[in-house]
Amino acid sequence: MIKNIDIKVLRNCFGKFATGITVITALAPDGTKIGLTVNSFSSLSLEPPMVLWSLDKKSKSIGAFIAAPHFAVNVLASDQMDISNNFARTSENKFNNIELLESKCNLPLLSGTVAHLECKNISTYEGGDHLIFIGEVEHFKTSNKKPLLYTNGQYTVAARHPAVKMSVPEGKDVSSKDDFIVPLLLRSYWEISDPFYRELQDEGMPIAHARIIVHLSHSPNLTKADLSKAIRIDIAAVTKSVAWLCNNGYLNKLNNDQLALSQAGNEHLKDVQRRAQRLEKEVLDGYSNEDVDMLKSMLKKIIDRQDV
Ligand SMILES: Cc1cc2nc3c(=O)[nH]c(=O)nc-3n(C[C@H](O)[C@H](O)[C@H](O)COP(=O)(O)O)c2cc1C
Repeated sequence: MIKNIDIKVLRNCFGKFATGITVITALAPDGTKIGLTVNSFSSLSLEPPMVLWSLDKKSKSIGAFIAAPHFAVNVLASDQMDISNNFARTSENKFNNIELLESKCNLPLLSGTVAHLECKNISTYEGGDHLIFIGEVEHFKTSNKKPLLYTNGQYTVAARHPAVKMSVPEGKDVSSKDDFIVPLLLRSYWEISDPFYRELQDEGMPIAHARIIVHLSHSPNLTKADLSKAIRIDIAAVTKSVAWLCNNGYLNKLNNDQLALSQAGNEHLKDVQRRAQRLEKEVLDGYSNEDVDMLKSMLKKIIDRQDV
């Protein structure tokens, strides 16, 4: 064993290893919610599905975690730095103003995470000044959000390595010599919009529904044919979507087959816009405000010119 280790230097060395961030939560025997920020989480086994994490033996909640039959691993998203800081302090009211989801194992599940795993607390092992907890995964769920990362004592976000070639979505043929604006716009459009549409599709909403609702919000009173042209979706798909949206009260049919958003449609629009705003913030995370403003200004100029 090395003698006379400088703990600070060792901590810095450990901190070179980049990790995600989780909040481990559980219920104490008296029903109180407990939770703390943890980056010692790791996947352990696939068959059976197992995970591990380690808890400082000085933690106030160690007794409660040992006694808890289950624990939840909440993998934080890049917009959840405040939640990480909140659960990294000793406090009686860490769960104040924290939105929780329903849990199959009666656990405090944090909302808005990248993933969560509900685990049976199966064993603990000694690990120096920490106790290692092993859990067997009973339920889990993931989202398309970007994870919050931690390295060198700082929060960071994930970005594709510049040496990794971008994967082009299937069926979309793009030349790699694309210093032309159109391929660049297309690729950046897929990059920004794919997580948004994936999230909608995961929830069973076809892309056409969202495009129709958004388009009618700024260009009302269009017919199905107008819409099909404007949103570049074939008339058969638009017809199917419009029928569904009318039957479910999101669209009103006006004279001359024109369509307009109903009140429910406008409510739905707000939901779509909220998601788009959140996902855009995540996708643009790490770019300077100047870069983003410049990009928006240039795109608006291009659109204004075409509108004349
Ligand atoms: C990024 C980060 C990662 C952490 N990882 C762990 C960990 O793996 N295990 C641990 O016991 N504490 C870890 N902590 C510290 C605890 O979150 C912190 O001590 C918290 O106050 C403990 O909660 P308690 O006081 O309610 O026990 C981490 C803190 C941060 C900011």
